[in-house]
Amino acid sequence: MPPVPEPLFLDGLRQLIRLDEPWVPPHGEGALYIRACQFSIDESVRVKPADRYLFVIFTFPYGTYYAAPVDVVVTDRYVRASPGGTGDVKPGGNYAPTLIAEREAQQAGFQTVLWLDGHERRYVEECGVMNVFFVVDDEVITPSLDGTILAGVTRDSVIALLRDSGISVRERRIAIDEIASAAERGALRECFGTGTAASLSHVRRIRYRDRDFELPPVDARTVGPKVRTRLIAIATGREPDPYGWLETI
Ligand SMILES: Cc1ncc(COP(=O)(O)O)c(C=O)c1O
Repeated sequence: MPPVPEPLFLDGLRQLIRLDEPWVPPHGEGALYIRACQFSIDESVRVKPADRYLFVIFTFPYGTYYAAPVDVVVTDRYVRASPGGTGDVKPGGNYAPTLIAEREAQQAGFQTVLWLDGHERRYVEECGVMNVFFVVDDEVITPSLDGTILAGVTRDSVIALLRDSGISVRERRIAIDEIASAAERGALRECFGTGTAASLSHVRRIRYRDRDFELPPVDARTVGPKVRTRLIAIATGREPDPYGWLETI
């Protein structure tokens, strides 16, 4: 797909937001989600890159994606992305194979799935439609972007906020066995997911195979709650934005 020229994208977006202003929920009650997409409008049944595309931006008001801390189940049966595939970008088709895993997780009483890599089914990649972070002992870790993980903007923001508050974040491969053994020895202090819709969602419980790992209560955590508060304070204009993330329309 040809990239959409940035000025066209941003000017269109600004106009749309002005138009949709009445749909913006009041502060504290949600946000206006912005979704841009592009699809082929070729009159052709051939599987090939198209000659003509339609670029669309739509918005919708939304409340809180996950209101409470979430329970997640590790799947080693389904995979969302494989090396050499499209896991690091956002075609709609990426979400198709995740739906059955999500449904089975929900039927078993979990909110979402902790995804492992598609090759060895050993390394943690994402948490539902969020990037994922762990606090083990005093270290904050998140899977490195290796081509199968979406480089979420919230992931970036959270890493910047943590680093700027003096907390180091290591981006590396994280084996699920490492998380399980950290949980067993009481060293798994926190786990949280990040995404535009979810902002930062705390994980309460992780099921891996037949074991359940309960994480410490959110009010006993020191990393996730603080960074979540700061992220929301910047996004809602309650604290100054030293990063240039905000634009007033
Ligand atoms: C698969 C996946 N991972 C991560 C994210 C989080 O990305 P962002 O922080 O850019 O919203 C999303 C958001 O839609 C997603 O669909």
